[in-house]
Amino acid sequence: MEAYLHPHYYEIALAPDDPVRELDFFEAAIAKFSRAKAHRVFELGAGTAPYLEEWHRRGYTYCGLDLSPAMIEFSRDKARRQGIDACFVLGDMRDLDRDLGPFDLAYVSLGSLYVRSNREFLDHLGRLAGLLAPGGLYLLDSFVWFRIFHDYKRSWTRRRGGVRVHTRYRVEMLDPVAQTYNEWLTFTVNDHGKDFIIEGRVPAKVFFPQEFLCLVELSGRFEFVGWYSDFSFTAEVKPDGRHVVILRKRQAL
Ligand SMILES: C[S@@+](CC[C@H](N)C(=O)[O-])C[C@H]1O[C@@H](n2cnc3c(N)ncnc32)[C@H](O)[C@@H]1O
Repeated sequence: MEAYLHPHYYEIALAPDDPVRELDFFEAAIAKFSRAKAHRVFELGAGTAPYLEEWHRRGYTYCGLDLSPAMIEFSRDKARRQGIDACFVLGDMRDLDRDLGPFDLAYVSLGSLYVRSNREFLDHLGRLAGLLAPGGLYLLDSFVWFRIFHDYKRSWTRRRGGVRVHTRYRVEMLDPVAQTYNEWLTFTVNDHGKDFIIEGRVPAKVFFPQEFLCLVELSGRFEFVGWYSDFSFTAEVKPDGRHVVILRKRQAL
C-alpha cells in the first residue's frame, strides 16, 4: 500500500488523461442503461478522487471510499478547497458498511477492486447491491482481464511543478490455481532535486471474462449489461486497451 500513502505523487503519476471524455462515457451509460435516476455516485478505491470536480460540475453528489488515510485526507482537502460538498469514507471495500449509501451509481476505476477470491467477489456484489438503488449501475474499469497471455508491465514518466515521477506498474503471479497476484506500483521520484523510491504492493485475484459472467449470474444481484473498450460504445472489444464492464442491479421481483 506504500504507493497509496503519497497522494501528491500518485496524482502526478496516474491522473486520468481525459476526465471529461471518460465521464461523458459514464454519463452516456447512465442515460442508456440505468433504471435509477442517477444523482449520488460512489467510487470504491477512490484514491485522489480524480473525477470529483467533473461529477460536481455535472450536478452529481460524490462519495469516495478508500483504505488509505492519506488518500482520504487529500481528497477531502481538495473538495474543501473547491467548495464541493462531497463525502469521503475511510474503510475497506471488502467490508462495506450497511450505513453507507444509498447510491444511484457505483464504480471502480483503474482496476481498483481488490478482492482475493471468488467468494470475496460474491460477498462484495451482495454488499454493494445493498447500497445501490434498484436498477442502478455498477461500472468496473480495468477489472476483468482480457489478455490471458500477457506480462502486464508498464512504465511511464510524468512531470509537474518541479517534480518528476517515473512509474512502474507490474503484476507478480502468486498462485496460478487460486489465480492470485500482487499488483506492484513503484514511483521513482525526483522532487525538486531530491531522489527517492516509493513502492507498494496490493494482493488481488485475476478475473477472466467467462468466470466473471458466471459469478455475476451466481450472485443473483446484478445483471450483465456489456463490456466496452476505451470509453466508447462502438469500439471493437479487443484484448488490449481499457475495458469498462457495466452491471445493473436487479430490480426486486
Ligand atoms: C489504483 S488506485 C485508484 C485510485 C482512483 N480510483 C483512480 O482512478 O485514480 C487504488 C486505490 O484503492 C485503494 N485501496 C486498495 N485496497 C483497498 C481496499 N481494500 N479498500 C478500499 N480501498 C482500497 C488504494 O488506497 C488506492 O487509493
